[in-house]
Amino acid sequence: MKLIKRHYGWIKDQEVIEYHLVNNQGATFKCLNYGAIVTAILVPDKNKSLENVVLSFDQLSDYLTYPTYFGALIGRVAGRIRKGQWLDHQLTLNEGKHHIHGGEPNFSHLLWETKEITNQADTVGIQFSHRSPAGENGYPGNLVTTVTYFWTNNQTWIMTIEAQTDERTLFNPTNHTYFNLSGETKRTIETHQLQISSEVYAEIDDEKCPTGRLLAVKDTAYDFTQPTSLQKALKKNPKGYDTPFKLQEGKVVLTEQESGRKLEIETTRESVVVFSTTGMEEDYLVNGKKMCSHLGLALEMQELPDAVHHRQFQSIILEPDKPHSSQTSYHFSV
Ligand code: GLA
Repeated sequence: MKLIKRHYGWIKDQEVIEYHLVNNQGATFKCLNYGAIVTAILVPDKNKSLENVVLSFDQLSDYLTYPTYFGALIGRVAGRIRKGQWLDHQLTLNEGKHHIHGGEPNFSHLLWETKEITNQADTVGIQFSHRSPAGENGYPGNLVTTVTYFWTNNQTWIMTIEAQTDERTLFNPTNHTYFNLSGETKRTIETHQLQISSEVYAEIDDEKCPTGRLLAVKDTAYDFTQPTSLQKALKKNPKGYDTPFKLQEGKVVLTEQESGRKLEIETTRESVVVFSTTGMEEDYLVNGKKMCSHLGLALEMQELPDAVHHRQFQSIILEPDKPHSSQTSYHFSV
């Protein structure tokens, strides 16, 4: 296995590096020290053709310009917090009346410290770390976060997240990669099948904030307990998905028959937010093509959003004597 470093660009006088983690089959995982952004995952299809299966921009300036969070690490807290309120802390309001994805600037807008991990047999890795000062975006506590991306010889991306605070605070990070297993976004996500081990989803209101109600998926367009065609699901739910599902066993599976590719996600987190890019007819280019509705599917592994306002959701409070530690793995096969 090898780890290659490429110059990617500059932000003021700081160099942005792209890391290529390459396994013995040539399958490659690429990421940046900026935003800990995953810029490409090249994995074989059924004919052994290596192609990119995530949405990516082809230049740094696009990552700086468009708020799509392609591949980015989101923190301190992913998703919305209603009115940016937690106890008497006022968090940055960066989406109308609400706080989203940790405020502005957040973890996806900064250059992380990096350390290369090359001393293991079937794995290479990059460790990112960052210290967020108390008060940033309104959050108390100096928070040290370490995120590690490992890439293995059997096409698995393993993400571990650790964090420690010196004061009671909130923490609910995610990685915001959008998948498209057809390879180089040849087809849309409508040719994919999705399976989620989830019997309830969190209802959201018109402003996309959870109402607190957990609704049964059975007999609805939110039932992905069996492998389900996204084309059929999107027909039933034409507005698309921006939906938090509470997980039973921490498992999500995405497949695409024509390429033969399969992605199996396993996580220690409470939920997955599924975002289907419905209606995103945009002018910018993604993998060299115009961004369009259903070009990618973001699968954001996290605790349920707006947990501070709903007692039935898992707590995202981080205590000084109890560091956060979580893991999500993404296994690609054919
Ligand atoms: C999350 C949100 C969406 C959108 C995307 C990024 O999935 O729930 O509404 O903000 O991030 O564009």
